[in-house]
Amino acid sequence: MNKIISKKVLSKSVTEMKIYAPQILKHAQAGQFVMLRINEKSERIPLTISDMDHENGLLTIIFQVIGSTTYELNELNVGDDILDLVGPLGKPTHIEGFKKVCVIGGGVGCAIAYPVAKALSLKNVEVDVIIGFKSKNDMILHQKFEKIANHVFVSTDDGSYQTKGFVTDILSDLLKNGQTYDHVFAIGPIIMMKMVSQLTAKYNIGTTVSLNPIMVDGTGMCGGCRVKVGKDIKFACVDGPDFDGHLVDFDLLQSRNNMYKETETKNYKCLAE
Ligand code: FES
Repeated sequence: MNKIISKKVLSKSVTEMKIYAPQILKHAQAGQFVMLRINEKSERIPLTISDMDHENGLLTIIFQVIGSTTYELNELNVGDDILDLVGPLGKPTHIEGFKKVCVIGGGVGCAIAYPVAKALSLKNVEVDVIIGFKSKNDMILHQKFEKIANHVFVSTDDGSYQTKGFVTDILSDLLKNGQTYDHVFAIGPIIMMKMVSQLTAKYNIGTTVSLNPIMVDGTGMCGGCRVKVGKDIKFACVDGPDFDGHLVDFDLLQSRNNMYKETETKNYKCLAE
């Protein structure tokens, strides 16, 4: 169980793994995640299920090496086992009742955007996709999106592929030119989700964001993943990870995430050196 069946480098710092986990796949739906622990000493991290192969019992995870745990995960190879894999956790993404939507992914957030876009397209929803990266070399999943989407628009910060700029530049142009959507799904860096939500609020388009804050147990017990949504405090692991982008307090979320960044970077540097 939990054996790594394949490992693929998608870009300089992003890796895709397929893991044999038929029990989890039995119940998994788009938008849900697993908590993973590599060995007795490592911390638990949440990773969204990026794709599902029900026939072969394989779930796909895609992760960026940004800290000590993802570094250790990336050291594993085909044939290795992952000690704990718990899931599916979180609520599935709500995909009912839409005719035309826009799914937006930023960087490694595309790994979360993809299963949502795929699930919508399987429901015959017309899906436009906007994906954004720093540079062409960071681009992931472009071809997979092409297979399921109506249109795939790409932005790069440095202009090395398609539109130079941000995903919000493309969305803004589309909306200004009269494009309409029943709903927008935005998944990526906090600042990106904030900017998309501000833009869609102007056009009165409902917007779902997927939050992946610091999680500890993934079961609603520790309170580590709390986020402010409107007047309420919610736990991303059990109430989310999807929330109404027009209600999320992104600034608070960003400051909580920053608190952990320094320690994580230090641990990562020790391991990588
Ligand atoms: Fe502990 Fe959500 S991760 S409450």
